[in-house]
Amino acid sequence: MRLIVLVGTVTGTAQYVAEEIELGFSSPTLAIETHLMDGLDASVFSSDALYLVCTSTYGQGDVPDNARGLFNVLERERPDLSAMRYGLIGLGDRTYHDTFCFGGKRFDGLLQALGAQRIGAPMWHDAASGGLAEDAAGPWMRDWLAALADQNRLENRSDNMRSSLTP
Ligand SMILES: Cc1cc2nc3c(=O)[nH]c(=O)nc-3n(C[C@H](O)[C@H](O)[C@H](O)COP(=O)(O)O)c2cc1C
Repeated sequence: MRLIVLVGTVTGTAQYVAEEIELGFSSPTLAIETHLMDGLDASVFSSDALYLVCTSTYGQGDVPDNARGLFNVLERERPDLSAMRYGLIGLGDRTYHDTFCFGGKRFDGLLQALGAQRIGAPMWHDAASGGLAEDAAGPWMRDWLAALADQNRLENRSDNMRSSLTP
């Protein structure tokens, strides 16, 4: 399986999180690649990969500058992402209580509007909590992989049922 981590960041925290995930969870059965979102467009989404969107929040609850191009192109072109499965890591700071983690929340809403399916609950990290986002990422990733395995099992079971009912 291929897992592509898409990083939206200004000061690098989201990139540390992605590196932690890539280093800690790459295996012979899970090839993890990290890509900064700079310069990406909808062609980054391929039906044979899984995705983690890992992004912080800036301005008035906006996506970071390096994620804006990808976000805008998805909003404008509205590609069909119904084959896409993804997880979401949103970084923010509760001091900005009206826009907490809105960068991640905006991506989540847009991807779902384009038909993509989110696996598991997002990770929301609060920089004001004192805990490091990269430390929270490992336990969250273990839960995410478990949610993915559950979903794969369910899909295999319904595929098997369908094929056993096909004459
Ligand atoms: C100028 C500025 C604006 C920010 N605006 C928000 C915001 O609206 N909502 C939020 O939850 N966090 C906001 N943050 C907090 C960052 O998203 C948070 O510190 C994050 O961990 C930074 O991640 P990065 O290093 O990957 O960019 C803001 C931070 C700065 C410096």
